[in-house]
Amino acid sequence: MRKSILLIFVTLLAAAGSARSIDIIPRPAEITEARGEFRITAQTAIAAEGELRRPAEIFATDIEPVIGREIPVAAKGEIRLRTSPSLAAEEYTLAVTPRTVEILGGSPQAVFYALQTLRQLVATDGTVPAVVVRDKPCFAHRGGMLDSGRHFWTVDEVKRFIDILAMHKLNVFHWHLSEDQGWRIEIKRYPLLTEIGSVRRETVIGRYDKTDESRNRYDGKPYGGFYTQDDVRAIVAYAAERYIEVIPEIDMPGHMLGALASYPQLGCRGQGYEVWTHWGISKDVLCAGKEETFEFVENEVLDLFPSKFIHVGGDECPKERWKECPACQRRIREEGLANENELQSYFMHRVEKWLHEHGRELIGWDEIMQGGISKSAVIMAWTDQFRGTDAARKGNRVIMTPKWNCYLDYSQTSDPEKYEPIGPTRYLSMRQVYRLDPYDRLKPAEYRNILGIQGNVWTEYIADFGHVQRMTLPRMAAIAEIAWAYDRKDYDDFEKRAKRLLPELYGNAKLKFSEFFFEDIE
Ligand code: ACM
Ligand code: ZN
Repeated sequence: MRKSILLIFVTLLAAAGSARSIDIIPRPAEITEARGEFRITAQTAIAAEGELRRPAEIFATDIEPVIGREIPVAAKGEIRLRTSPSLAAEEYTLAVTPRTVEILGGSPQAVFYALQTLRQLVATDGTVPAVVVRDKPCFAHRGGMLDSGRHFWTVDEVKRFIDILAMHKLNVFHWHLSEDQGWRIEIKRYPLLTEIGSVRRETVIGRYDKTDESRNRYDGKPYGGFYTQDDVRAIVAYAAERYIEVIPEIDMPGHMLGALASYPQLGCRGQGYEVWTHWGISKDVLCAGKEETFEFVENEVLDLFPSKFIHVGGDECPKERWKECPACQRRIREEGLANENELQSYFMHRVEKWLHEHGRELIGWDEIMQGGISKSAVIMAWTDQFRGTDAARKGNRVIMTPKWNCYLDYSQTSDPEKYEPIGPTRYLSMRQVYRLDPYDRLKPAEYRNILGIQGNVWTEYIADFGHVQRMTLPRMAAIAEIAWAYDRKDYDDFEKRAKRLLPELYGNAKLKFSEFFFEDIE
């Protein structure tokens, strides 16, 4: 009896509180609404010290366009940031009362996440509804990938992509840096990679027709770009301030024409390569028979990226060239390998050994399982979720990024021919992204092998950064909610929050988002 009276009382209190609905994405573990509101005024300051100063400054800058002023960071203030060892590393509480905003995080990273939540609650008049939020993420790997190979994104654009990840409480930026269509990172030991490999002669116009080359048209304009090592360091530092780890991907042994055009001796045929001007899967790949290939692969990339994981690709590597290459065939004989799939496995094992010698771990696309893979390799499942499920059952760690849920370059409209005629013809609605269940068909004991999930933005058909934003948003919000709030996901509730929150959040951050935001046709 007493309990139900209390319940009615709490409900009335909530009703008497803020009229505004409290919309937060990803959905927090616990929200308790309270009476009244906090107001940010010209006198308000953020109290933050030491490692918490930088997150406070970033918040102050992000909130400036919303309320029209920056909030100073000082020793004393009404918005108080603290850490506590009693919370998990990424766990926080945010308590808003009419007089103060108290943030407690298990680490500065958790405080940063609390500030992202606060950012979603601040209205343009500076008010914040009174509330207590308790929150922590479900998955350790919460990622977003950007393809800088097919199209090049400036340092500022890459930082904007990192901003998008940060505002969604994602913590990994997977940066796809090498491709058949361009090599994008300065390697001082191999200067031709950027001198030759970063530029293609021209680019196919519109959707590439691989069945009939005569139907393709090209723009006749050289296209290129690369990141200097200083650019890379700046991006890694920018991400680190937002508690995002940059995991580079140097895709090998396939998708290597940028490198082969620069150093033809690294291929099986040793000549005749050019940076590709169209999309697709090249038969020309790194030669797995030559020692020089492994010298090349083991380059200074590790000095630039402090990440524990290094992504070495491994996807879409046709075996035609290896079949006809004397060096590759000699390797197969000498190593007692059964076939070219096992040669790929040999290749990946060698690269993994090198990574381990440097205290790093290997991530590869799910094709690296062909021919066998070590238990320590992390599988990024993209062709099909169930390749990831299989790998997790066998004891490998897995990141789920199945294309049917996670490829954010797929069309956002059920009529792509009409509305997005250049991009992939596949339709990936917000609901379909949200449907991803990374634990599907796994036993609870196997769940720990699922490190997390990721949304990927491939850019064959995305040539400007406004388009990147419109493909990424709002669907990255669905990725974020599964990664952060898997145990409490609920599509109908998500959709309501998304419609109320995201246009304003993105608008305030001057981010573009899809005009098909509300479309949901199955
Ligand atoms: C991929 O989409 N080729 C990983
Ligand atoms: Zn070869």
